[in-house]
Amino acid sequence: MITPDPGSFRDPTGHVGSVDGRIIRLLSDRGAGDARTAIGTPSVTAATERGDVVASAWIDPSSIGASAGGALEHPRLPFIAYPYEWTFAMLQDAALLTLRLLRETAVDGVSLKDATPYNVQFHGARPVFIDVGSFEPAAASDPWFGRQQFLQMFLYPLMLQAYAGAAFQPWLRGSLEGITAPELDGVLGGTRLTQRRRGRLVHVKANAAAARRLRTRTEGVEAETKRSGLTRELLLTQWRALERLVGRLEWKEARSVWSDYGARGHYADAELAAKERFVGTVAASRQRALVYDLGANDGRFSRIAAEHAAYVVAADADRLVVDRLYRELRSQGEQRIQPLTIDLADPSPGLGWGGVERSSFADRARPDLVLYLAVVHHLAIGRNVPVALQLDQLASLKAEVVFEFPTEDDPKVRELLLAKRTGLFDTYRVESTDAAVAERFDVRTREVLDGGTRVLYHLSPRS
Ligand SMILES: C[S@@+](CC[C@H](N)C(=O)[O-])C[C@H]1O[C@@H](n2cnc3c(N)ncnc32)[C@H](O)[C@@H]1O
Repeated sequence: MITPDPGSFRDPTGHVGSVDGRIIRLLSDRGAGDARTAIGTPSVTAATERGDVVASAWIDPSSIGASAGGALEHPRLPFIAYPYEWTFAMLQDAALLTLRLLRETAVDGVSLKDATPYNVQFHGARPVFIDVGSFEPAAASDPWFGRQQFLQMFLYPLMLQAYAGAAFQPWLRGSLEGITAPELDGVLGGTRLTQRRRGRLVHVKANAAAARRLRTRTEGVEAETKRSGLTRELLLTQWRALERLVGRLEWKEARSVWSDYGARGHYADAELAAKERFVGTVAASRQRALVYDLGANDGRFSRIAAEHAAYVVAADADRLVVDRLYRELRSQGEQRIQPLTIDLADPSPGLGWGGVERSSFADRARPDLVLYLAVVHHLAIGRNVPVALQLDQLASLKAEVVFEFPTEDDPKVRELLLAKRTGLFDTYRVESTDAAVAERFDVRTREVLDGGTRVLYHLSPRS
């Protein structure tokens, strides 16, 4: 029997689920007919061969005990992430992929039912369009049904960050429908409307004004489009213009708290080499399917882990650092490391319908190994999350852990303590951490780095 994916129910013509770990899309008669037509076209075939669209194979629904108009099997992606966990460049690339697919498939009379970033996933640093059920044959006079969704979920979040310097992630996490035109218009109200920002006039101001007027629909959207004379050629022109606009948007952040950390100058060369050796030895001890590098920064240790693992999720709260990591991995064609923006003190909760449509970061996957390197003190002292609670969280993942604890004498810890009332963090001690670790894990190896203020642990979960 198929286990339905709780995030796949909005399309009346089909939904996705899993059977023994296989990813299956069940389609209604109409959905199967549409998919057969669309998937068979030269443009969708070419996009699939290029890897822009996830692969599909028709299977007999009865072979998995289902009754449906048709069934497709897709390869399972190593990790699912959501737009509010992406960076600026990731959302931009997903937007450009969506527009390119619209443009390319239009020549074969195909369109996309919707235009949401949830139709895109990242395989490493490469966007892949996964909602094959969204392709449908389109009449020459059809409107672009996904237009408003594209604006709210792609263009406006990108404009918010590019024009106002405000992060889009909290907004997309706050509303799964994205940012509305009046909301963005309100935020951008004070910013200068230069010629370069014409897109704002066309896509934000006009739509915001329209959205503020109550409108009672008396005519179907298809009839209205036919009457207005909107043609495929006009839509192609619109998509091309949007591609140019989206492609030109830039987030001009040059520095963040962690953007210059890459050199790791506070480690002596020998210490850094010892830390790399420690992580490398654990990583090489066996091949793993999924590794989490939490507080990954520039991904230095993610890369070491990726040498011996099928997939690594490199998560960090610093959006600029993660954006740079994404761009670098993208330029290297890296598909084994997936960057993610996650604040470990406030990770993504379950969202959407029933609170499970978009799963929480904690429930998303089961890693085999977790790297938790030089991040504990930031959460303990910077965010007041006690070390024991952090270890509880790590233990709940039931994975091996490489844990680096900078002791109370470490210069970086002392620096963090300077911002706090004296004596408040007296419990931040290596002895209490040793005890808390031993209560929750089997300690396989414990090594103190040469400077004497950094302790590395290789931990196994208790069954
Ligand atoms: C000292 S660096 C360590 C980087 C890397 N793990 C290493 O060992 O070289 C700490 C990293 O933790 C990240 N960080 C700090 N607080 C965080 C939080 N609440 N959630 C996620 N990442 C966080 C910072 O952005 C930074 O990149």
